[in-house]
Amino acid sequence: MGRKLCVINQKGGVGKTTSVMNIGIGMKNAGKRVLLIDLDPQANLTSALGFQPQQLESTVYEWMKGETSFEDTALEYQGLYLIPSNVELSAADIELSQVTGRELLLKKAMDGVLDRFDCILIDCSPTLGLLALNALTAVHEVLVPIQPEYLPLEGVSYLMRTIELAQQRLNHDLKVGGVIVTRYDGRRNLHREVVDIIRTHFEDKLFNTFIRNNVALAEAPSYGKDIFTYKPDSNGAQDYEALCKEILMREVV
Ligand SMILES: Nc1ncnc2c1ncn2[C@@H]1O[C@H](COP(=O)(O)OP(=O)(O)OP(=O)(O)O)[C@@H](O)[C@H]1O
Ligand SMILES: [Mg+2]
Repeated sequence: MGRKLCVINQKGGVGKTTSVMNIGIGMKNAGKRVLLIDLDPQANLTSALGFQPQQLESTVYEWMKGETSFEDTALEYQGLYLIPSNVELSAADIELSQVTGRELLLKKAMDGVLDRFDCILIDCSPTLGLLALNALTAVHEVLVPIQPEYLPLEGVSYLMRTIELAQQRLNHDLKVGGVIVTRYDGRRNLHREVVDIIRTHFEDKLFNTFIRNNVALAEAPSYGKDIFTYKPDSNGAQDYEALCKEILMREVV
C-alpha cells in the first residue's frame, strides 16, 4: 500500500509548501509515483510549480466535490502529478457547511486514484478548518514542519490536539509521521535552544535531518521550479534529499 501524507501546521510561513514540493520531487527521484495535492486557497504550491491558478478551470475543489475527473484536473510537473488549487477553494468552509460527510470529500476523491500512486502528499493551508479535517481524514501520516522560533510549541500543542480529535472521530489510522525542523540556522543560539525543546517534546518523532535556512529554497518558486531542478548543489537540495530518505525509512506501522 502507498503512503498518504499531509503537511500541516496552522502557523503561516513555516515551510509547508516548500516541504511538499521538494519532498514530492525527492520521492519521485527515488522512483516513487507521486501525486501532490494543493489544498490551500492561496495556491502557493500550484504557482511554485509554474502553473497559473486563476487560469485553471478544474481544481481540487471541483475534484473533491466529484464534479470533475482526475484526468481533467491533474497537471503534470516533471513526471509527478499535481491536483492544483485556486482562490475559489476559500469558499469551501461556508459552501459545504451543510453537506453531510463534508470531512470525507477529499478521501473519497483520493480513493479513486490510490492504485496509481506510491506517495500522495497534501499541502494544507495555515488554518484548522474543514479543509484541514479533509486532509486529516484522507491520510495516514501527518508531517509537521516547525520553524525554531521563540515559543513555537503553544500552537503546536493545539495542532496535536486537533490531530488527536481527528484520529478519534474521523480516521483511526491517523499517525504523526514526524516533525520537521525548517529554516534552521545552527549559528543561532535561539534555534539550538528551541530545537532542544522540540526534541524533548517529540523525541523520536523529530526527523534527524533539519532543513537549513537556504536562500535557493526561497528563490526556486519564483522560477516555477523545485530545488533539485533550480540548484541541485544547494544545502536545500541536500537537506530535502536526506529528509526523503528518512521518510522512506520510517514506514508507519
Ligand atoms: N529552508 C528555507 N530557507 C529559506 N527560505 C525558506 C525555507 N523554507 C521556506 N522558505 C521561504 O519561506 C516562505 C514561507 O515558506 P512556505 O511558503 O513553504 O511556508 P508555508 O508554511 O507553506 O506558508 P503558508 O502558511 O502561507 O502556506 C517562502 O517564501 C519560502 O520560500
Ligand atoms: Mg503554504
